[in-house]
Amino acid sequence: MLKLEMYKLIFLFGISLLISSCGFRNDRGLLRFVSDNQITYNQTILNKVSYQLINQRILIPKCISCHGDSGHVNLETYASVYSFIDKIKEVTISTRKMPKSPYSALNNEEFELLATWIHAGTPEKPLNGTDIPPPKIEPLEPTFLSIKKNIFQNKCLVCHSIGKEAERVRLDTADDLINSPLDLVLPGNPDESGLVLAILPTARKIMPPKKTGIVFLNPSEIEMIKEWIANGAKD
Ligand code: HEC
Ligand code: HEC
Repeated sequence: MLKLEMYKLIFLFGISLLISSCGFRNDRGLLRFVSDNQITYNQTILNKVSYQLINQRILIPKCISCHGDSGHVNLETYASVYSFIDKIKEVTISTRKMPKSPYSALNNEEFELLATWIHAGTPEKPLNGTDIPPPKIEPLEPTFLSIKKNIFQNKCLVCHSIGKEAERVRLDTADDLINSPLDLVLPGNPDESGLVLAILPTARKIMPPKKTGIVFLNPSEIEMIKEWIANGAKD
């Protein structure tokens, strides 16, 4: 009987060793961020962090698709990011719930930038005075390049790329869409093109999928895609 208990104990000990070593592997490199007083901040990074830097390196690529102007937490301006800063710290630094799938988690470098910026008091301008310029806002146009850059890149390619869950439906080139067996783009006929049918608010399985939290396309984005197709869907 005693022997059995001993084996049980040894077994449990082994299991817990296994689990703890997995945990360590996953967190390697981020361990020093576990709690605020354990973090060592790099002075060079402290000097250069600014809203522009965080916006371009983290917010635009990894947050805005879900946190645009129709989401409940809008992260599109400095003022609104500032107003949510405690929550942002909680979900990115403490619990690491954000960004959510299908977007990839923050890598070590992004994590360090964001943690340092928050530690520095979320400055709008960098301490060292040299800020990076704000992103150029290029108006959306009815061309494939503009649609890809402004819409697909932010909201679709996270799933519609090789190795991702929707790789079977490719959105990389105009030809991918025109040649698709799903009739995704019928040049000159936007109303029957599968791409348009998939993004309309009336779509049965609307894209991007509702469960992801990615903000749906707005009416002017939908119009621009229809206009591109109506004009012949050129590259
Ligand atoms: C794929 C969509 C998606 C992405 C990408 C994403 N979020 Fe979220 N976020 C959500 C959804 C959905 C919620 C609300 C439900 C929840 O808390 O899970 C949310 C909630 C939040 C909240 C509020 C939490 C609370 O407790 O009220 C904050 C703050 C936040 N996200 C920040 C971020 C930041 C910062 C990023 C980028 C680093 C990010 N999110 C990326 C979908 C996303
Ligand atoms: C969370 C992942 C995800 C995101 C983000 C996403 N899609 Fe999809 N999409 C899918 C999946 C999964 C399918 C089904 C793929 C299959 O049938 O193999 C699909 C199918 C499609 C189809 C084919 C519909 C049909 O007729 O069968 C189109 C068109 C499409 N998506 C367009 C888009 C566009 C445009 C966006 C961005 C605005 C987008 N998707 C964003 C996952 C996604």
